[in-house]
Amino acid sequence: MCGIIGMMGNGSVAGSLLDALRRLEYRGYDSAGMATVSEGSISRRRSEGKIVNLANVLSQEPLAGNIGIGHTRWATHGVPSEKNAHPHSNDRLAIVHNGIIENFAVLKRELQDQGFCFESDTDSEVILHLLTASLTRHGEDIPRVCADVLPRLRGMFALVVMFADREDLLLGARHGSPLALGFDSDGGGYFGSDALSLSGLADRIAYLQDGDWALLSRDESSSRLYGGDNDLKELRTEPLTISSGAFGKGNYRHFMEKEILEQPSVWGDVLAARLDPQVRRPRLPRLPLAFRDIRTLHITACGTAYYAGLVAKYWLEALAKISVDVDFASELRYRSPVLRRDDSLAMCISQSGETMDSLEALRLYKRSGLGTVAVVNVEHSSIARESDVVLATHAGVEIGVASTKAFTTQLLTLACFAITAASERGYMSDSDADTAVSALSCLPGLASQCLTNLLGGDENFLHATQVLSHAKDVLYLGRGVSYPIALEGALKIKEISYIHAEGYAAGEMKHGPIALVDDTVPIVALAPYDRWFSKTLSNLHEVSSRGGDVILFSSKRGIAHAKESGIDLRASIELVDCASVLCLEDTYLAGEIGVDKDLGILDVMHPFIYSLAVQVLAHDVAILKGTDVDQPRNLAKSVTVE
Ligand code: AGP
Repeated sequence: MCGIIGMMGNGSVAGSLLDALRRLEYRGYDSAGMATVSEGSISRRRSEGKIVNLANVLSQEPLAGNIGIGHTRWATHGVPSEKNAHPHSNDRLAIVHNGIIENFAVLKRELQDQGFCFESDTDSEVILHLLTASLTRHGEDIPRVCADVLPRLRGMFALVVMFADREDLLLGARHGSPLALGFDSDGGGYFGSDALSLSGLADRIAYLQDGDWALLSRDESSSRLYGGDNDLKELRTEPLTISSGAFGKGNYRHFMEKEILEQPSVWGDVLAARLDPQVRRPRLPRLPLAFRDIRTLHITACGTAYYAGLVAKYWLEALAKISVDVDFASELRYRSPVLRRDDSLAMCISQSGETMDSLEALRLYKRSGLGTVAVVNVEHSSIARESDVVLATHAGVEIGVASTKAFTTQLLTLACFAITAASERGYMSDSDADTAVSALSCLPGLASQCLTNLLGGDENFLHATQVLSHAKDVLYLGRGVSYPIALEGALKIKEISYIHAEGYAAGEMKHGPIALVDDTVPIVALAPYDRWFSKTLSNLHEVSSRGGDVILFSSKRGIAHAKESGIDLRASIELVDCASVLCLEDTYLAGEIGVDKDLGILDVMHPFIYSLAVQVLAHDVAILKGTDVDQPRNLAKSVTVE
């Protein structure tokens, strides 16, 4: 998504603007630019492609000035090009915009009729000319200009405006897309799309609410915040706690690699935050509806977060006997969901907390009168702010566009939610809850062991990455709680390796997709040695006997069992055997249909381990393919447009 930054200080800002734009890269972009004011005139530099191109332009033509704005553009209207890159400017002002102006065509015609010439194909440029026209009408009365222009913009915008004749202020406005402002302790004032963009600059931060606009100066006391009604609001800042160190890749090749390998420690941090050490139970805030009164939980999310919701469905229905609906946010809003306010709870899962589809779906839940719970990684995000209760996932900053630790910490949070629900609804005894919490507490160690095995040069794993890196089509299969992980694994390899992959319920293959199978289609099978194992093995025989190259991820026992069955495996990768870790072997016969409570605990653990496998698999295949692992083509970290 687009990223915007504005800053004013006591010295040249061009270098700091460039650094801030680098911190916005993770949002995904295809062009960048910045502008400054110096001696009453606006100068601008823009470039297509990566920030390094802009840095090269600046090295040839430096920018002077102690006030400036910057932008990373993810194209919505108008191709990625220097012409369409922000800032858009004239001799009076310059603007940067994140969002979509839905009525831009009407406004553009109106402005062209007034004689304005457009140099770009973007929707954003209408804002520049509307503000210019209003400044001409209302002189330097900026509050009047805001009251005149902002209500005319339909759609979403986070906006920062710089004026040629005002080197002492920046105007920022927010409607839908996020915008924060901040200050440092030596006369610096800042606007930014998010806390990450201001880290390393500001030490205090405030988040504009929808409809807010602000006149920012170099210190907090002379800055002004206004509400959508143009009335003055109290400007309350808080310490900005994200250190710019969150940005370091350290010795890792990619942020994604760092974030995959951080998971053992991050899981430990999440469990430390989420589990009460005295009573050894998850700590959850009070929900809008007591667990005992919940008949249906409606979950909405997008992409990887949606798959976390699918895993939660298996857990909550098996352990807590709560009926769970899981909807793609972009679909939920365009069907007529049956939402009963008296016995249903709504949940929105989102790493960024700014995904517009998910935010609008949350608003639909709220309009239907449901209590809302946000499972988010960014605690000050729009989804968090608009929900009744927030369950923070505490993953820490996730920069890689492909979600990894954010996904598994969503699962950890949802596992705690499911265990609490089962306990409070009387479906999980104290001793079972003890077992469940003990199982969760084993996960950081298991993750460390699993990653060590996967990255330790396992011949089979290396062979599997080679096979996939040459494939045009790949199928990921799983059953039960491994089915959503198969979907997630397919998404991971799609989004960073650009290989077409589909996740499928293993049992569904014979109902059509098996027609795809021949010796050019590798099959990645996620088959923990669990109650679905024997059925999955039958499905794998079906595809293997038709030439499919089966790459099996399972435990030692599962692989042995598969080989004894005579299946021809292209590769088998051994993953941690959770049953043995929990000493559950003796209560467990593979393939037995039926649910022993302990099996429920295994079902809670397996998704974590198999998520690590598909993350590393996708990452390593992408390395072989030479794609941009952290910023895959066409993708954004947070999709803040519908
Ligand atoms: C995940 O790897 C993708 N980058 C994408 O599917 C992402 O999960 C989706 O866009 C939802 O983002 P959110 O969690 O920030 O709402």
